[in-house]
Amino acid sequence: MAKTTTKRRYVHGQWSNRWAFILAATGSAVGLGNIWKFPYIAGENGGGAFVLVYILCIAVIGIPIMMGEVMLGRRARQSPINTMRSLSAQEGRNGMWKYVGWMGVAAGFLILSYYSVIAGWALAYVVRTASGMFTIHTADGVANIFGEFVSDPEKLLFWHTVFMVMTVIVVARGVQHGLEKAVRFLMPALFILLLVLVGYAMNTGFFNEGLHFLFDADFSKLTGEGVLTAMGHAFFTLSLGMGAIMIYGSYLPQEASIAKTSITIGIADTVVALLAGLAIFPIVFANGLEPAAGPSLIFETLPVAFGQMPGGTLFGSLFFILLVFAAWTSAISLIEPAVAYLSENHGLDRVMSSAVIGIGVWALGILTAMSFNRWAFNFHFFGKAKENGMFDIFDILTANIMLPLGGILIALFAGWGMRRHSSQDEMQMKSIISYDVWSFIIRYVSPTLTIIILLHLFGFFDRFL
Ligand code: TRP
Repeated sequence: MAKTTTKRRYVHGQWSNRWAFILAATGSAVGLGNIWKFPYIAGENGGGAFVLVYILCIAVIGIPIMMGEVMLGRRARQSPINTMRSLSAQEGRNGMWKYVGWMGVAAGFLILSYYSVIAGWALAYVVRTASGMFTIHTADGVANIFGEFVSDPEKLLFWHTVFMVMTVIVVARGVQHGLEKAVRFLMPALFILLLVLVGYAMNTGFFNEGLHFLFDADFSKLTGEGVLTAMGHAFFTLSLGMGAIMIYGSYLPQEASIAKTSITIGIADTVVALLAGLAIFPIVFANGLEPAAGPSLIFETLPVAFGQMPGGTLFGSLFFILLVFAAWTSAISLIEPAVAYLSENHGLDRVMSSAVIGIGVWALGILTAMSFNRWAFNFHFFGKAKENGMFDIFDILTANIMLPLGGILIALFAGWGMRRHSSQDEMQMKSIISYDVWSFIIRYVSPTLTIIILLHLFGFFDRFL
């Protein structure tokens, strides 16, 4: 990574080229969201129709907003809070825009607190799979093993702690340091292993059931909450709406094309999620499991496959190792805006800022770890039963509310707040037509759709129906 000095007092790094950015941003985007969350929410929301809405949200809302977020980051080259502050000053807008940056920092904090607990499950499953724990078990046995695991707070807290320490260590050393290199071979490796799993799924005899489940759109199975979940997940899986992509964009070299880069990342991320679905659902149907099992889904299905396939212990351990890496590169981007802010504005060095934030996130994570056992409680959310108390609340609050809200504001600022010549200058699109199309989408289409879906959440339209 080349170091360049910017206008500001601190030294701001830069990716060595466009590909380094693509890899890092893909590292941020591809994570538990693709492999753990996408399959289980698709399962809970009936499959096909949900998947279709999700893909539409990626294309019409996600990718255009990603372009906007990268553009803002590269324009200002600072942490999200300072980016919003200095751009609103430069463009002659209200100083309140900096609160978008603040909300992003808060969202990253909240998300990482539960993300780390789940990443801890993946860590534990590296060791468990490697020790051959799943070789002798039926699907029922595998589910029981998982049930026992999550009911033990000590285990969850231990692995949550390990994962937070791993995250803080990398962030303390500086994001681009080592990350570029690691992602370069880990992403392709994860991709290949997913293909192996899909290959196994093809041999279960239930591949067609899996295909139909994921791609036959039966809209009678899709609820309003499902639509909201699909949209929220489009933000979550692309790491949008909280400044993570903005801060990575701030390290993007000036000559790289923002549009091409964002489209590449959006496609790569979607392909990984669909492959995960194609690997998991045939196993679900072959073993008579429940597609709507919830957050436990991959931990109850994949070990069954690893128990049965030749070389399963090796492939299984490798798979969970790669899942941990995918989660790691995402976790780093969740904490980076907060750490960058502390070190830019409060004179703390990176090590101190990472430690301070890491401890805070770790403490908050205890609530999630306990929500799967001692502190579990049930509640209803739009007719759907939720049973993991604080985990569900954090998930709904961030993915369904804060990220879409942050995304709308980022879209509005990129589309309306930035003067045309500034954004056009930064986007550097080859043809004016592409710029105009993007500008139209980000000004009108993405925010309107997002607002309609959000208002639906609050039951706004119910009174008219
Ligand atoms: N996109 C990541 C995933 O799918 C999670 C993530 C990383 C994220 N950074 C983010 C989500 C910023 C929202 C905002 O696992």
